Amino acid sequence: MESLELKNFYKGKKVFVTGHTGFKGSWLICFLHKLGAKVCGYSLEPYTDPNMFSLIHGENMVEHHIGDIRDYDHLYAVIKKFQPEIVIHLAAQPIVLTSYENPKYTFETNVIGSVNLFEAIRHIDSVRSVVNVTTDKVYLNNDSGKAFVESDPLCGYDPYSNSKSCSELVTYSYQNSFFNKKDFDKHHVAISTCRAGNVIGGGDWSDYRLIPDCVKSILKGEPVIIRNPHSTRPFQHVLEPLYLYLKVAMLQYNDINYMDNYNIGPEIENCVSVKEIMDYFVEYEPKAKYIVQHNENAMHEASKLTLDITKIKRKLNYKIIYSIKDTIKTIVDWTNEYISGKDMRTVTENQIDDFLRQIDIKYKKEK
Ligand SMILES: NC(=O)c1ccc[n+]([C@@H]2O[C@H](COP(=O)([O-])OP(=O)(O)OC[C@H]3O[C@@H](n4cnc5c(N)ncnc54)[C@H](O)[C@@H]3O)[C@@H](O)[C@H]2O)c1
Repeated sequence: MESLELKNFYKGKKVFVTGHTGFKGSWLICFLHKLGAKVCGYSLEPYTDPNMFSLIHGENMVEHHIGDIRDYDHLYAVIKKFQPEIVIHLAAQPIVLTSYENPKYTFETNVIGSVNLFEAIRHIDSVRSVVNVTTDKVYLNNDSGKAFVESDPLCGYDPYSNSKSCSELVTYSYQNSFFNKKDFDKHHVAISTCRAGNVIGGGDWSDYRLIPDCVKSILKGEPVIIRNPHSTRPFQHVLEPLYLYLKVAMLQYNDINYMDNYNIGPEIENCVSVKEIMDYFVEYEPKAKYIVQHNENAMHEASKLTLDITKIKRKLNYKIIYSIKDTIKTIVDWTNEYISGKDMRTVTENQIDDFLRQIDIKYKKEK
């Protein structure tokens, strides 16, 4: 069984996660906790109130460290003490509009932060498998609507996207210079990058993101303002990329041929527009309302973004688990449980269990 393979591998494994207090990080530590891994997290304090990390009592699931990824000495000391076998790097300033407001901080966190992490790994013998989480925005995008393949040129436009392109280049240099595949017998470290699309799920309260804006507007009883209804993005439920980060980390731990760069997202025909997402949201939660309001002074953001996911489908035999409608339904369910005051750790764990069940059903059916 597919989920059993994951459980057997991660049970007792020491996994170091940067960015564990964020949206994806909180889901990831809950996922790893379910799989029986021993997790150490390194991040800043959660910066929204409410936030997913506090709602699931994340500090009870991990060895919890608050620290800045730009502080090499602190980062090194924490990793050295924990002696992880697997590292998943999520810590970043991940918002495009914030990167326009604070480009220097964004580059320092996303580029120097990645350098600091690889530098620490270079000096710690326990590490065997590393996944650097970047984004679909790393590519040079002229808005042609072309679906990007992994070999396309990397050159993000805005400071966030560009800093993630730089993080890819930093990874490439460390892969070649210090963790070269041909010297694997000497260093035993495999490093991959994963370029995921727009990740959505319950528990995201970040600014300038579609689903958090919807949830906030339901709570306030006001319509959400949509500025770019026709922008298309590779929207995916958060558990899909997390499952793939874990799968890449597992496979390359045992076989260096899985060390690679991977696009992660839905099928091209399922890259939907912001308006379609909103329409599904309203279908499942009639309290959600939206209005379209164009902003002539908006900062540049690519209007079309699609990814070609052929490589990860072929190499990892990846099967997409949730359709976009399943994804929105899952988010609405999570949000309604939150509104009705449920224990969100249990709700989140139940959603992870359901996802693992769906994985097994999907893989069994398509064998
Ligand atoms: N959410 C998405 O749609 C999406 C899509 C593709 C890729 N990503 C990538 O996934 C990762 C996680 O994104 P998220 O949506 O969970 O973001 P988030 O803002 O919810 O979480 C970011 C995490 O990074 C940590 N962090 C930020 N600056 C730091 C610093 N200077 N030092 C230490 N830790 C720091 C935060 O404390 C937090 O734990 C990021 O690398 C992001 O670029 C996100």
